[in-house]
Amino acid sequence: MTAAAPRPKVVVALPLAERLLDQLAECDVTFLPAGRSDGAAFETAVGEADGLLVGSTVIVDRDLMASAPRLRVISTMSVGLDHIDLDAAHQREIVVTITPVLSDAVADLAMALMTMLSRRVIEGMRAVTAGRWSGVPLGGDLADKQLFIVGFGRIGQALATRARAARMRVSHLDGRADLPVMDGVDRVRNLLEGLRDADFVSLHVDLNAETRHLMGAEAFALMKPSAFLVNTSRGAVVDQAALARALATHEIAGAALDVLEEEPPDPDDPLLGAPNVIVVPHIGSATTETRDAMARCAVDNLLMVLRDEGSPFVVTERE
Ligand code: DGY
Repeated sequence: MTAAAPRPKVVVALPLAERLLDQLAECDVTFLPAGRSDGAAFETAVGEADGLLVGSTVIVDRDLMASAPRLRVISTMSVGLDHIDLDAAHQREIVVTITPVLSDAVADLAMALMTMLSRRVIEGMRAVTAGRWSGVPLGGDLADKQLFIVGFGRIGQALATRARAARMRVSHLDGRADLPVMDGVDRVRNLLEGLRDADFVSLHVDLNAETRHLMGAEAFALMKPSAFLVNTSRGAVVDQAALARALATHEIAGAALDVLEEEPPDPDDPLLGAPNVIVVPHIGSATTETRDAMARCAVDNLLMVLRDEGSPFVVTERE
């Protein structure tokens, strides 16, 4: 009689629904709080693990991977990857998987934020709360306005579909070759070309060395004073200090941010009180359906890799 193979050891640093826990019964699971608050417990557990399930707030760096000789898979419940050192993972032959099942939810939010900015929804709400029913300045239509989408992956494309349905004109910037051609959506060659004509700029790129502070003082100087910025990607794609200046000097008309350079922000951050800014707490994927789909996808990814079945959502290079 041969001894049964030991169950793979897995660290889960995410809250998971009961039925997903059942799916992990084939593993020896250590549950840790989301985040790395107790660094030592986290590192000890990961040090013995074959698999790691995390969200985007858990940093998985080179040192952590070096201290985890058995680690075969990092399954992140996110599409963003800036919390994982991908080069280190590839060097150690650790498979990294993502959950790209949130495009509709994020595109819905970007569309909502554009609408709120252009229709002055927040000013309207503030007026009513202050006892005023009239006097909010007129907003603007979305129809016939130019939307510039920076990053034309799954989420950028989902936003373009919505914007076309709202009869907006759409352009995008993305260096990848294999992108779909969409009716009524133009491709621009560089940031300058896209920014100077845009009424709305919406960011949908990963955070990496090339995209950090992509939207800085120079970019804002190129935008129309009537233009709005929407960021549902990662906070540090925008140089927030430069944005605060551009808003204060009316270099651009307003901004809506789902993501910030520091999350949660310093309560004294000037952007939080600015009249022409909407800030929401990183809720791009925060719908019941989408978070459920992401959690299922993350667990499936983890198990498929541990069973040597592969996964459709393995990251082979920066997406
Ligand atoms: C993602 O999936 O990257 C979202 O921003 C949630 O972190």
